[in-house]
Parts: sequence; structure tokens; C-alpha cells
Amino acid sequence: MSTNKIALITGGSRGLGKNMALHIAKKGINVVITYNSNKEEADKVVAEIEQAGQKAAALQLNTGDVKTFDAFITSLTGLLQNTFGTDKINFLVNNAGIGIHASFAETTEEQFDELMNIHFKGTFFLTQKALPVIADGGRIINISSGLARFSTPGYAAYASMKGAMETLTKYQAKELGARGIAVNIVAPGAIETDFGGGMVRDNEQVNKGIASQTALGRVGLPDDIGGVVAFLCTEEARWINAQRIEASGGMFV
Ligand SMILES: NC(=O)c1ccc[n+]([C@@H]2O[C@H](COP(=O)([O-])OP(=O)(O)OC[C@H]3O[C@@H](n4cnc5c(N)ncnc54)[C@H](OP(=O)(O)O)[C@@H]3O)[C@@H](O)[C@H]2O)c1
Repeated sequence: MSTNKIALITGGSRGLGKNMALHIAKKGINVVITYNSNKEEADKVVAEIEQAGQKAAALQLNTGDVKTFDAFITSLTGLLQNTFGTDKINFLVNNAGIGIHASFAETTEEQFDELMNIHFKGTFFLTQKALPVIADGGRIINISSGLARFSTPGYAAYASMKGAMETLTKYQAKELGARGIAVNIVAPGAIETDFGGGMVRDNEQVNKGIASQTALGRVGLPDDIGGVVAFLCTEEARWINAQRIEASGGMFV
């Protein structure tokens, strides 16, 4: 069943964001995805959603570059009016991200700043600037990581930003509740995508190691995550608020 609702998903050109976009579209929700550099892949996702009968569009956005956000919101508003005949989105999914593997001892200030800008500062201010565009009664879904609960060497900076997002989620839920906006955070375990150079997917030793630490005995696939985020966009999920929802198959339990 089609709705007139719209979801904005950052980093929807590949990996988990793409999978979220496809699952959300299956719920009858129209979709705007963003990509950073990979327009071709973003256009393919748009075409796939259109073929499935929903409206879709793609916009360029570097979620680590706060000074571009005003222009992005202006482009988004124009797109909503011209293509979707509305001036509001109902769901914001803050998914875009990168992985940088470095031990705490060896993390450079540059690596720290890049992770900080994309995973925390950018998400903080993009959501702030999007507030007037999010409809009352809407939802925000942030994306964390299992690594914010358990620690595996090499993710000190990355996981700390995700931990910050988990805290921010509670504050956003508290402060935006007055507008009927629910805010939750989904924490995927290790999933086979391009993330971190595709290590979980392409490095057999890493893949097997994670599978052996996962109750369900394998690593995650994008399809294990997209449906969880799509569910959070449904009427049935309306009472879920301020929650961290881990989808990891039971990693390190
Ligand atoms: N895969 C995992 O194991 C895993 C586990 C837990 C959490 N996560 C989280 O899940 C989210 C998605 O990860 P993924 O596995 O789907 O990664 P991915 O396959 O590498 O895809 C990353 C997506 O984010 C976009 N992106 C990257 N840098 C960006 C930037 N500076 N500004 C805007 N967009 C940017 C990419 O756009 P382009 O296509 O244009 O490059 C792409 O759409 C991230 O927040 C990640 O931290 C992943």
C-alpha cells in the first residue's frame, strides 16, 4: 500500500543505506537518498525504487561538511516541492558513514576529525538543520554500531562517535517528543558491505572470526538491517522511542 510519506536516507547509494531505502520503499514510502561521490550507484537505487512503484530521487551530500548543509536543505526543499508536491519529510535516517581502522595509540588527529565530522558533528547539525523540514509526528533513525557496546581493537575513535550518537539519540527523543517525533538508534553488528574496505565481506579470517563470536553463527548481511529500519518507519512501531536496537545476530553476548 502506497502512502504519501517520504524518507530521507543519507548514504543510500550502497551498502546498508541502499538496503534500507529498498525496504522502506516496500512499505509504500517514497524515498530521497543521498550519496557522497557515487552518483551512478545512487541513480541505480532510484531506478530500482521507481520500478517497484514508489517515487525516489537522489541528492549529493557530504555529511562531514557542515557548511554545505544550508544549501543542501534548500535543494531538498526544492526537490520536495517539485518532485513530491510537499515541503516535509516524515523520516530521517542518518546512515552515511565510513570506517577507519586504527588502534587508539596510532589514531591521527586527521583520522579522528574525519570520523568526528561524518559520524557525530555532521549528523548533529544535519538533523538540527533538517528540523523545520521534518513533519510533526515524524521519526529520526540514527545508526550506531555493535562496537559501541563491545570493543574490538582498532575502532576507538569510530566507536566513540557512535557512542556519542547513542547519547544524542536520547536527548533528541526527549526534546523532540513535544512535536511527536520519535528518535531511535539501530546498532548493526558486523555486516558484509564495502564498509572499512569490505573487510567483513572479503577477509575470510575476519569473517569466520566474527561468525564464531555470533550466536546465530554467521556475519550479517544488508538484508538483516534494512527491514529493521523500515519497521521503525511503520505505524506499528510508533511507541518505540529513545531506544538502542541492536541487530547483530547476538554478537559477543
Ligand atoms: N557494515 C558494517 O559492518 C556496519 C556495522 C555497524 C554500523 N555500520 C554503519 O552503517 C552505516 C552504513 O555503512 P555501510 O556498511 O553501508 O557502508 P558502505 O557500504 O561503505 O556505504 C557507505 C555509504 O555512505 C556514504 N558516505 C560515505 N562517506 C560519506 C560522506 N562523507 N558524506 C555522505 N555520504 C557518505 C556512501 O556514499 P558514496 O556511495 O557516494 O560513497 C555510501 O552511500 C555507517 O554509519 C556505518 O558506520 C556499518
